Amino acid sequence: MARPRRGDILSLTVDDLAFGGEGVGRADGYVVFVRGGLPGDRLRVRLTEARSRFGRGVIESVEGPSPDRVEAPCPYFGRCGGCRLQHLAYPAQLRFKAKQVADCMARIGGMDAVPIRPIIGAPELFGYRNKMEFTVAAAPAAEGPIVGLHEADRYDRVLDIERCLIQSDVMNGLLAEARAFFAERKLPVYDQESGEGLLRFLMLREGKRTGEAMVNIVTAAPQLTELEPLAIRLRSRVSQTASVILNVNPKKASVAVGVEEHLLAGRDHIREALGGLVFQISANSFFQTNTLQAERLFALVEESTELRGGETLIDLYSGTGAITLLLARRCRWVYGIEVAQAAVDDAQRNAKANGIENCAFLAGEVRAVLPQLIGRGVRAEVVVADPPRAGFHPKALRALLTLGPGRIVYVSCNPATLARDLGELARGGYRIEWVQPLDMFPHTPHIEAVARLAKT
Ligand SMILES: C[S@@+](CC[C@H](N)C(=O)[O-])C[C@H]1O[C@@H](n2cnc3c(N)ncnc32)[C@H](O)[C@@H]1O
Repeated sequence: MARPRRGDILSLTVDDLAFGGEGVGRADGYVVFVRGGLPGDRLRVRLTEARSRFGRGVIESVEGPSPDRVEAPCPYFGRCGGCRLQHLAYPAQLRFKAKQVADCMARIGGMDAVPIRPIIGAPELFGYRNKMEFTVAAAPAAEGPIVGLHEADRYDRVLDIERCLIQSDVMNGLLAEARAFFAERKLPVYDQESGEGLLRFLMLREGKRTGEAMVNIVTAAPQLTELEPLAIRLRSRVSQTASVILNVNPKKASVAVGVEEHLLAGRDHIREALGGLVFQISANSFFQTNTLQAERLFALVEESTELRGGETLIDLYSGTGAITLLLARRCRWVYGIEVAQAAVDDAQRNAKANGIENCAFLAGEVRAVLPQLIGRGVRAEVVVADPPRAGFHPKALRALLTLGPGRIVYVSCNPATLARDLGELARGGYRIEWVQPLDMFPHTPHIEAVARLAKT
């Protein structure tokens, strides 16, 4: 067949899902990625991009649906960039994620024989998120600003979201109140080009176990008097509102983190209970965004460390210290290593609040701090690592091999870098005992996995 061209209509059957959740099909051997295509779908696809080895297309019509295709319950599905897999039945979402992990182990890590445990599904399929970040954007009509999420693959366009199914009714109530207030008061929206205007983001957080909610309004200027009435309104109308914060980000960078923070009402943090501990979470703190599934993840980590009480443990990439603090109860001493000073401060505060004294948090990059610890003569029987998507830096991995703990429990949010790092660790003298996929974010292509390693 001649190489297809942009605009061509092709008939194809989708046979797989790619890493980000796009369907992958072949028309006469030519590979086409189709957003919204599901394995088993027979589709007519219009090519929007035609490269020499593959193309991208959009669905013109579904000629025969996949047996796993379901009606997506969210009215924004297909346009919103959030939940890309809502139209795939949940058991099939789990099969896709488990297969991605197995494929990465074989293709990237060269480890076909590693046992992959059955994936652990999430206990809640909707309303599971404890944090959402909405962008405030100017609406074309004058009825008030858009408060919503970015459109799929369009970072320049924001979709107005009245109700999001992956957050709770309480958070949806807060979203509605804030939207109505912004419209009534005709508050100006920040304009990225000119740098003028006020409103930038609305971030909502909720302690799922405590019921405490936080509203964090991110603006370009500290206009407290304009927003104080919103804080009063939220406190009186949504009883769960425990904290209303104003974060000021006057910089061009489109991030929901401010350079200064003002308390508008309540406390400067909310609390969340997890694994028997209570964590204080402030507006800019990192905290796992699915509380119930994080509890299962951490229980699995705890069980996998097989702590007896006398060990020294190092928690690499410790964030706000959830794993460090949960494991401190089971061993002699824990070091947490984390690059973000703010997260280290939160971890120290949470250690104090929970009366945990057998831990120390060290701020810095793992590749620098871990060799320093080893140089000071510190040894550890067990290491837990929960790196960001990029996985280990090669120097950090070498330091881990030098430390040579008896057991490593590796928590990963990216199976590709997990497979790469496990391959290195296997070559460095570790046996990969098993890999356990786990679904933290139903309806999205995100994949979490835990691996347990033992020194051979
Ligand atoms: C997936 S999070 C870990 C979260 C943590 N387990 C928790 O529950 O709070 C990864 C963490 O690694 C930190 N990080 C990223 N690069 C790092 C580096 N080179 N050295 C140390 N920490 C790093 C990030 O700031 C982030 O807090």
